[in-house]
Amino acid sequence: MNMMVRELIAKWLHQNAPYLEASEYRNLIAFPPRPEMGDYALPCFQLAAGLRKPPPQIATDIAGKLNSSAYPEYVDKIEIQGGYLNFFINRNWFCNLTIDLTERITEKKRATAADENSGRVVLVEYSSPNIAKPFHVGHAFSTVLGQALANIYSFAGYEVVRLNHLGDYGTQFGKLIVAWEKWGNEERLQADPINELLTIYVRFHDEAKDDPQLEIEAREQFRALEEGSPKQFALWKKFREISLQEFTRVYERLGIAFDDYSGESFYSPLIPGVVDELAEKGLLEDSEGAKIVRLDDESLPPCIILKSDGSTIYASRDIAAAIYRYDKWNFFKNIYVVGLPQKLHFQQVFAVLDKAGYAMAKDCRHVGFGLVRLPEGKLSTREGEVIYLENLLDEAVEKTRAMVLANAEQRNIDMTETEMDAIAENVGVGAIVFTFLCNGRERDIVFRWEDILDFDGDTGPYLQYTVSRCRSILRRAEEADLLHSTLKLDSHIDDGYLIGDVAWAVISAMAQFERAVNQAIEENEPSHLSRQLLAVARSYNKFYNDYPILRADTQDRNFGLILTRTIDNLLSLGLELLGIAPVERM
Ligand code: ARG
Repeated sequence: MNMMVRELIAKWLHQNAPYLEASEYRNLIAFPPRPEMGDYALPCFQLAAGLRKPPPQIATDIAGKLNSSAYPEYVDKIEIQGGYLNFFINRNWFCNLTIDLTERITEKKRATAADENSGRVVLVEYSSPNIAKPFHVGHAFSTVLGQALANIYSFAGYEVVRLNHLGDYGTQFGKLIVAWEKWGNEERLQADPINELLTIYVRFHDEAKDDPQLEIEAREQFRALEEGSPKQFALWKKFREISLQEFTRVYERLGIAFDDYSGESFYSPLIPGVVDELAEKGLLEDSEGAKIVRLDDESLPPCIILKSDGSTIYASRDIAAAIYRYDKWNFFKNIYVVGLPQKLHFQQVFAVLDKAGYAMAKDCRHVGFGLVRLPEGKLSTREGEVIYLENLLDEAVEKTRAMVLANAEQRNIDMTETEMDAIAENVGVGAIVFTFLCNGRERDIVFRWEDILDFDGDTGPYLQYTVSRCRSILRRAEEADLLHSTLKLDSHIDDGYLIGDVAWAVISAMAQFERAVNQAIEENEPSHLSRQLLAVARSYNKFYNDYPILRADTQDRNFGLILTRTIDNLLSLGLELLGIAPVERM
């Protein structure tokens, strides 16, 4: 919204003081840090050289030109402060505009500029856990981040395809087959699949230390699998299905579904074609029996395409996958939400694609993220102390339930067990989800329950609490029959209504929503949206504390209710984009 106002001011400036094009004015106009400096400011410093005048004089000169014409309806006054020309916007005009636009985008769940992006396919690959391995917190980070990005792109009008690139192939499956044949137990597998597979896999590694024969057997089993032998294939398929069932349980809890689960196994058969292509293009070199692509020009280590035993590896599967995806979807962007430790891997993959002449390489993006730690230290699968996402969610829900219960008792709220469970589930899961999204994604995350579940902190529960507060006000207004007589008639604010600074802060924060969405897309960084929602909620809660909405006189009450309704809609949409379910009360 305030992009639009910036546009308008730029045009007005250009019409009356044509020193610059409207677009140039627009790029200069900034948002001042303090309310007394106005809502928009034109810094005149860059004009000084061209006009050979000091900036304050330019500001005065432009102000004079503007003052000689009638102000447009959206400008209340202009002020010169040093080298700045400050614009004070007509609050009522802006407020009506902002509320209108916000209602429109929240109702349609579509960004204002969504049409510009229609038909542009954005692939978002995320989660991508490994079969027969636990879904650990690192995968949770990818899952939550990818889901939020996919939602945000979709809101912005892109055609989003959600991909889960399962780690369902590789030499480790040879090991797993050997381990299963020797020590596997069907009953234990059914009871706790991932745990059983992990246990026998760990045992394989333990025993292989003293028994090198095991590794040889594993290689043979993997080769048999690659050749499609029925027994090995059946086992692999069973492991894959049973693992996916486990993962799906978590996905459902997070409200996630993918469009496509083609993992590494799907792309493996495409590798020979890629190897031929790279050879034809003269990119493939021998190196100690392996086939590699040199990336010296890019100052990257060579990318290994085929190992010396002829088996394929991770990178070749990714190269094949990118080409396949481009053929299939002709993507606008191809995004990989994968931890930062794989940064080099993706640089190499994209560099090989580029060398092979694929212009789409520049549309491929690795969206990396930091490590997740508990205060005790790094989470690791290898040490045997695996942190399952499910356990983390359970703990969050349990702790949340205790807080909701205490809160309900303290405030004498009647709640059924079922309602309490549902609230605890949504808020607890939301708290974990928000923790992954509230800071820059490349930063490491340290889990501290006091922070994550702080109902007043920069948290998911705080946002959910604000939504539930809005809904409770609207419910009470409805009960007192205040909604019908006022809100449903007209959402506009009367011309003469005086909008105070606290309410103005809510409107200004609200107006930044789409800007935050755009930033989130530009940087593939959902935290821009998270921070924006926190700012909206903070400003609204201040308003709520300052104005007893339901007890105010009609005009103030109407305004407060309109604001409450729009904030409810906006925060609910924002939470939904982040992958968090709002709650009616808590
Ligand atoms: N399965 C891999 C892991 O758990 C992540 C896959 C990332 N995606 C990709 N296209 N390589 O580490």
